[in-house]
Amino acid sequence: MRRAKISIVGAGNVGATTAHWCAAAELGDIVLVDIPATGDMSAGKALDLMQSSPVMGFDAHVTGTTSYDKTAGSDVVVITAGIPRKPGMSRDDLLATNAKIMASVCEQIKKTSAHAVVIVVSNPLDAMVQKAKQVTGFPPERVIGQAGILDTARYRTFLAMELGVSVEDVSALLMGGHGDTMVPIPSCTCVGGIPVTQLIDPRRLEEIVDRTRNGGAEIVSLLKTGSAFYAPAAATAQMVEAIVRDKKRLLPCAAYCDKEYGVGGYYVGVPAILGSAGVERIIELKLSDTEKSAFDKSVCAVKELVAAMSSLT
Ligand code: NAI
Ligand code: 2OP
Repeated sequence: MRRAKISIVGAGNVGATTAHWCAAAELGDIVLVDIPATGDMSAGKALDLMQSSPVMGFDAHVTGTTSYDKTAGSDVVVITAGIPRKPGMSRDDLLATNAKIMASVCEQIKKTSAHAVVIVVSNPLDAMVQKAKQVTGFPPERVIGQAGILDTARYRTFLAMELGVSVEDVSALLMGGHGDTMVPIPSCTCVGGIPVTQLIDPRRLEEIVDRTRNGGAEIVSLLKTGSAFYAPAAATAQMVEAIVRDKKRLLPCAAYCDKEYGVGGYYVGVPAILGSAGVERIIELKLSDTEKSAFDKSVCAVKELVAAMSSLT
């Protein structure tokens, strides 16, 4: 059976760690791409990762390159190219630099992997994924952003820590943009099937949501030289798996919403079914008035970000 071809653009922290998770799970053969200025760095990381395979027991070819020729015909392309946050920077501070990088990467992808599903990770996520759709011209279901799985994973981690239970028993949902306006959906948050609102009082729950909203900044303030990468990469690998194994996973993703939730043509975090075609369906939940107004506010923040990006070009 032909193995899936997964290209990861940007062989930095998130890109290389995504390659690691994808290789260990034998999701396919992996090509790590970076810019010529980084020399043989991606080739070095790829070879190092390959040499871990006899120990860890996985079969996957991992190669590193600075040429898009080697990515040709990819089934999935993950884009992590760009600069990450440093302390004191918001994700939006990355807008101008990363929009140019995203455009140049997508020009290459549309030439070399015209049938790929593209997963965008670079920040500010909700604007970068819009840029990727514009530049590739791919149908919206084949251009998806990673944020919701990460944000929800942080929330689930904090809830499990609070209650002293296994993370496996915590299921949750956050929607909206990947930023300070992300929206918790308490009616879809359960611990062992019990609604979280029966286990944690509203004030404490709000504190946990706040910590989740600031989850990226908390890691930046600890690392000081960059931003989170283990959890973002694990989240990205979960999306890759859903696509290459056609799993029809129901996951929170930045998906292109037009009529859905009345968004009107922007990428925003919503529950979606991911399979080999990319986003195969967006699930429209009935939101409470409070959730809907928080979601609308988050969508406004996404629209402002996209408008700011458009005014740069
Ligand atoms: P990093 O600095 O470790 O790696 C970025 C890599 O991109 C570098 O190796 C750099 O040489 C490469 N790059 C720059 N321009 C390129 C181009 N034109 N083509 C190919 N490669 C290029 O940064 P890190 O930590 O891996 O983060 C990458 C991006 O992902 C950042 O924008 C960060 O904010 C974002 N991010 C997003 C998350 C999300 O949940 N959506 C979570 C974590 C990070
Ligand atoms: C995060 O949430 C930086 O977006 C990245 O960690």
